[in-house]
Amino acid sequence: MNNKVSVSILSADLMHMEKDLHRIENSGADMLHFDVMDGVFVRNISFGQPLLKAVNKVTDMHLDVHLMITDPIKYISDFGKFGADTITFHIESQSDASAAIKAIKETGAKAGLALKPGTPFSEAVPYMKDIDMLLIMTVEPGFGGQAFMADMLPKIREAHEYITCNSLDIPIQVDGGINSETVKLCRDAGASIMVAGSYLFSNEDMKASVSTLK
Ligand code: DX5
Ligand code: ZN
Repeated sequence: MNNKVSVSILSADLMHMEKDLHRIENSGADMLHFDVMDGVFVRNISFGQPLLKAVNKVTDMHLDVHLMITDPIKYISDFGKFGADTITFHIESQSDASAAIKAIKETGAKAGLALKPGTPFSEAVPYMKDIDMLLIMTVEPGFGGQAFMADMLPKIREAHEYITCNSLDIPIQVDGGINSETVKLCRDAGASIMVAGSYLFSNEDMKASVSTLK
């Protein structure tokens, strides 16, 4: 089976967002990755619900929202209302993870759980039966364009083994530093949804680079 590709619009041109959205739609990518940062959980501020609402009006793509915010549960219903199809929050955030998963499912979206590089897979285990996707960060969250952390590969392998042994149907998403080389390492370790920003936007032909990631 092919990998799925989720394009991070953190690398898009905010002044020409609609043009970049059409570029993504025509690239063969499966999802649009929407990175929300609050300047507290990570040392960067990106965008939030108003932009998601606007994006949702002009595209039918699957909106894959990655919340890098301190108290995600406060905002989950808003993101659901404004069109998120998947909502992923960090286990290291202040929100109770079970309550956040429940709140996401109440919006009708799929629930994703994200782990920062320093967080072991064991912390996700209690929630594995309730989530729809596991996001293993392959850079420290906060900025696009960082180098892939190869020391995350054992964690991807461990999660993949756990999912297989327990007959679960949970795709592993990887995010950060994904390109034509690192995608192979992630795929071999068991990841199947590849988030990429700078690699895809730096290539003139986005369709060709998306197909490389597949
Ligand atoms: C980082 C974000 C990523 C980022 C990936 O905190 O979660 O989604 O946009 O960007 P690249 O592909 O440039 O590493
Ligand atoms: Zn992300």
